[in-house]
Amino acid sequence: MVLGALAFSAFIAAFQLLAPALAFRQPYEYLEAIQTFAVAFTNPSSVINGSISSPLAENVVGRIDVTTTFVGQELNTEYLFGLFVEGASENSTQLIGSPSSYTTQSLVVEPPIVAVSLINNLIYPTINSSFPLQIDLFIAFDDDMKIISYDAILRRWSEFFTYVVPLLAPQIAKELNSTTTNTTELVTMKTAIDVCGMSTEYCTGDNQVYDSNDACMEFMTQIAFGNPWEGGMDNGWCRYIHKNMVKYRPEVHCPHIGPTGGDMCIARDYVQLTEDMPFNSTLLSYNASYNALDLKNVPDHNQNELVAIETEIVYMTTVAFVSHFFQSRTSY
Ligand SMILES: *[C@@H]1O[C@H](CO)[C@@H](O)[C@H](O)[C@H]1NC(C)=O
Ligand SMILES: *[C@@H]1O[C@H](CO)[C@@H](O)[C@H](O)[C@H]1NC(C)=O
Ligand SMILES: *[C@@H]1O[C@H](CO)[C@@H](O)[C@H](O)[C@H]1NC(C)=O
Ligand SMILES: *[C@@H]1O[C@H](CO)[C@@H](O)[C@H](O)[C@H]1NC(C)=O
Ligand SMILES: *[C@@H]1O[C@H](CO)[C@@H](O)[C@H](O)[C@H]1NC(C)=O
Ligand SMILES: *[C@@H]1O[C@H](CO)[C@@H](O)[C@H](O)[C@H]1NC(C)=O
Ligand SMILES: *[C@@H]1O[C@H](CO)[C@@H](O)[C@H](O)[C@H]1NC(C)=O
Repeated sequence: MVLGALAFSAFIAAFQLLAPALAFRQPYEYLEAIQTFAVAFTNPSSVINGSISSPLAENVVGRIDVTTTFVGQELNTEYLFGLFVEGASENSTQLIGSPSSYTTQSLVVEPPIVAVSLINNLIYPTINSSFPLQIDLFIAFDDDMKIISYDAILRRWSEFFTYVVPLLAPQIAKELNSTTTNTTELVTMKTAIDVCGMSTEYCTGDNQVYDSNDACMEFMTQIAFGNPWEGGMDNGWCRYIHKNMVKYRPEVHCPHIGPTGGDMCIARDYVQLTEDMPFNSTLLSYNASYNALDLKNVPDHNQNELVAIETEIVYMTTVAFVSHFFQSRTSY
């Protein structure tokens, strides 16, 4: 955290010195917004308890590759922040660690879009360990510098999970008083106990999704846990992810951990997932070539033409460079 925050401050200071005074948003403002987001992600309780305002716009649409697409501020706040607050408050081993610090590995600002790659440290207190996870994000900001769209890629998530879970397994066995050393069995049992505990406590009355705790345990130990990348599919892993949100809004989240999986833990079509563009606002930095200072007195319609031409030139230059590159290689 300290490292990440310092690196950002240095960045921001540099941009502030360079930035001319313009009415338009300056790069350092996007850096500040990214820092706000990253700090919030590593201190999620401050968003949940309202001590810092949500970095997300009311009508934000977010996509996380290993789970699914989330629409609206409330749902996104629950999944980006609430999930981790609730996980951190549990005393037993959690399969999902708590973000504790970050460093910025890569960052590009092209208003109103930022592409950023954060290395987040996820802590696992019961084994006194933390492991780094790289999260790549394309983020679009609205006029109020709130996140209106984000596309998050948990880079190497399957490797992360495959690496970490066996290290958690002995501790999980201890907590469950189990003598098995079979990680699959331990994870299945752990998932079932945690999901059914939440269901039995919070999914009651109109929100009840299982006939009983035993019925839940039977269902949860029979379905497949799933692969790490299948966090939005009809399996135990998806229900495990959703268990933390149940207490916030049982009427919304109980179906997700129930037998049907609601609208979250369901079969999904790969081709459709890949081709669908869920966002309200594009993640193209359509004004990348736009320079407010240069274009100050140029009428809007002419500005649009200029921006289009400039974009075309950038594109053509890139093609020329690539073909040159290939030519020089073939002449080796
Ligand atoms: C909110 O959470 C933050 C971070 O955990 C904490 O520092 C702050 O005291 C909390 N504020 C309230 C009002 O609970
Ligand atoms: C974890 O332990 C603390 C201290 O014993 C307790 O206050 C808290 O309620 C426990 N949390 C859960 C989710 O059981
Ligand atoms: C946790 O790890 C740190 C550093 O690796 C070590 O100093 C500390 O004693 C450990 N704590 C426990 C409870 O094992
Ligand atoms: C494991 O054993 C301990 C001590 O015997 C007990 O307190 C705890 O409830 C048991 N846990 C489970 C999951 O059975
Ligand atoms: C672990 O348990 C699963 C499910 O019971 C089983 O399919 C698998 O073969 C076991 N793995 C080992 C190494 O015993
Ligand atoms: C954003 O998209 C969601 C669905 O993807 C839609 O319900 C909502 O109305 C959209 N908001 C705006 C401002 O376009
Ligand atoms: C993009 O540039 C055009 C001028 O070419 C300007 O009118 C428009 O407001 C800009 N859009 C944003 C979001 O800055």
